[in-house]
Amino acid sequence: MALTAARARVLRALSRWPPPGRVPVAGWSCRSDAGGSAGGSAELPPGGYGVWQEQAARDPVGFWAEVARGTLCWDSPFHTACQAGLPVGTARWFLGGRLNVSVNCLDQHVNKSPNRVALIWERDEPGTEVYVTYRELLDLTCRLANTLKKYGIEKGDKVAIYMTVSPLSVAAMLACARIGAVHTVIFAGFSAESLAGRIMDSGCKAVITYNQGVRGGRIIEMKKTVDEAVKSCPSIRHVFVAQRTDNKVQMGDCDISLEEEMAKADSVCTPESMDSEDTLFLLYTSGSTGKPKGIVHTQAGYLLYAALTHKYVFDYQQGDVFGCVADIGWITGHSYVVYGPLCNGATSVLFESTPVYPDPGRYWEVVQRLKVNQFYGAPTAIRLLLNHGEEWVKRYDRSSLKTLGSVGEPINNEAWQWFYHVVGEGRCTLLDTWWQTETGGICIAPRPSEENAEIVPAMAMRPFFGIIPVLMDENGKVVEGNDVSGALCIAHPWPGMARTIYGDHQRFVDAYFKAYPGYYFTGDGAYRTKKGYYQITGRMDDVINISGHRLGTAEIEDAMADHAEVPETAVIGYPHKIKGEGAFAFIVLKEPTAHTDRIKEELKAIVASKIAKYAVPDHILVVKRLPKTRSGKIMRRLLRKVITEELSSMGDTTTLDDPSVVKEILDAYQKYKEKSSS
Ligand code: WTA
Repeated sequence: MALTAARARVLRALSRWPPPGRVPVAGWSCRSDAGGSAGGSAELPPGGYGVWQEQAARDPVGFWAEVARGTLCWDSPFHTACQAGLPVGTARWFLGGRLNVSVNCLDQHVNKSPNRVALIWERDEPGTEVYVTYRELLDLTCRLANTLKKYGIEKGDKVAIYMTVSPLSVAAMLACARIGAVHTVIFAGFSAESLAGRIMDSGCKAVITYNQGVRGGRIIEMKKTVDEAVKSCPSIRHVFVAQRTDNKVQMGDCDISLEEEMAKADSVCTPESMDSEDTLFLLYTSGSTGKPKGIVHTQAGYLLYAALTHKYVFDYQQGDVFGCVADIGWITGHSYVVYGPLCNGATSVLFESTPVYPDPGRYWEVVQRLKVNQFYGAPTAIRLLLNHGEEWVKRYDRSSLKTLGSVGEPINNEAWQWFYHVVGEGRCTLLDTWWQTETGGICIAPRPSEENAEIVPAMAMRPFFGIIPVLMDENGKVVEGNDVSGALCIAHPWPGMARTIYGDHQRFVDAYFKAYPGYYFTGDGAYRTKKGYYQITGRMDDVINISGHRLGTAEIEDAMADHAEVPETAVIGYPHKIKGEGAFAFIVLKEPTAHTDRIKEELKAIVASKIAKYAVPDHILVVKRLPKTRSGKIMRRLLRKVITEELSSMGDTTTLDDPSVVKEILDAYQKYKEKSSS
């Protein structure tokens, strides 16, 4: 295949790093004398999974202390494994320990096998993949770290990363970790306003971005979005701009060409020795109320949890090619594209494209070309591909695949069966993995338990080592026994759990620890089967999940509240065949008008520009009024019943201010449906 200009440029750029024969970090090695091993995930003890399972259930803190020593490279050892008080939302792990995350993800592997491939960048253009070794990635990271330092970024400073997935964006994350700066990656699909909100909340000093992004054959104007965002962000001193395309973009006074600076920078950067509990990153996610919250993850506990779950849930073996197709803008990208795989010395695929570009065979063509062994993706993509038919899958050789994983939203039975039988030919293990931004890594998944254990379709099933799930009833009591449902909580802290919400610990306590004192409340409901397996039944709050993207309905309502002609809105999630859930908006107009179509279009544009395109409601229905209680609270539960047409189970409507509103909304909905289908 002929080299495209862009590919040739990337190869040229990468081939500059490192200069031949240069050892990137002279003299740095993992200090096994400091209480750690030489790194790499702890190995299962004789007796296998069951031994760890039992030990972790009996003595979680002792279990984690042992695996922390066996897995991470410590600069100096920890003296206390865990200090926690769940009722006040505190959990600290590996106190007194010092380490550097980038050393764990890079130097330890460079010391042993510098030419092992760390990343395979599957660029948007098929057939132009770029291989990056551990040595090259360390070099990139150090140069980027030195560039940040040159421009005044210091330990504890916050840096926003607004980039599509690439070796450079991974290096940007690791460069922050190297110098002790805190990164906050912001999904490249977010609008300028969302970007600005996150930058302002965290007080970022710098942004790292691309001139443009490329996805599905289309150009994304990333620098323009950053320019728009930073206008309202006085904390930003510099914008580092890397080149993903050859197109020139306007460079202003605080803009710095990243590659030019990196070419001049030293390729050695001494890692900052960090406390286990120093912040590693913030990642913004949606809650049921208010603006997105900056979830805080720290160094040692997060890294350990990401690495151990990566190795044991997916059964990752040295030499395997791990293909997690998530974007680095989400927690799945953090834990299973970057930190977990790299800490384990794995080869991780960076997927820049979409499942349907240039055609619906893309994933499987990638599996064939890169010989992917573990494939980890979202149900929404599987549902989309399923509709295109199995010939797109069968065209490609998938014999390299051993394990398949699903993440981010419930996987329906039809999608599970198709993934298992068509993609995996009935011979690969398929894992439905449940977890959250806040949990740092996978908490419930069919593995690990004992080898060759039963797997029930479309069910997360078993807790990971040291995770103790409990179900709660409406009175806050633990539900015992099997064949029962309840609010899913976790009874004991684990190293990967979030430590706080940036700048608002009280919100952290209120959101996760108040409803069931002494337990972490997930926000999800679950059913424990007759055999004791867990099945997630969905969110219990006003958080919805559109194509695996988590969103608070309140965020959409807040965005629409900006429209002068729309005084009231209520948004709910409704079942969507491909996206899992879609947003359905009910709106009340200030005055009856003939211009409802215009208003609806304006509302959609507002949501796209204030949040992101994926948040735009699929349906907007004008109603005369919303169903409210006498105290003025909107009863979204009733709206959900109307559109799912579960009219027989409306439940208690006596608290409504005026019960006749239900009939009114039903009539409006029926008319809307008739009009849409005609
Ligand atoms: C949902 C993504 C059912 C759940 C890693 C959770 C799931 C929210 C599953 C977290 C699953 C995630 N089955 N639901 N296997 N995995 N969820 O923070 O509602 O983006 O609370 O983290 O996604 O979404 P988040």
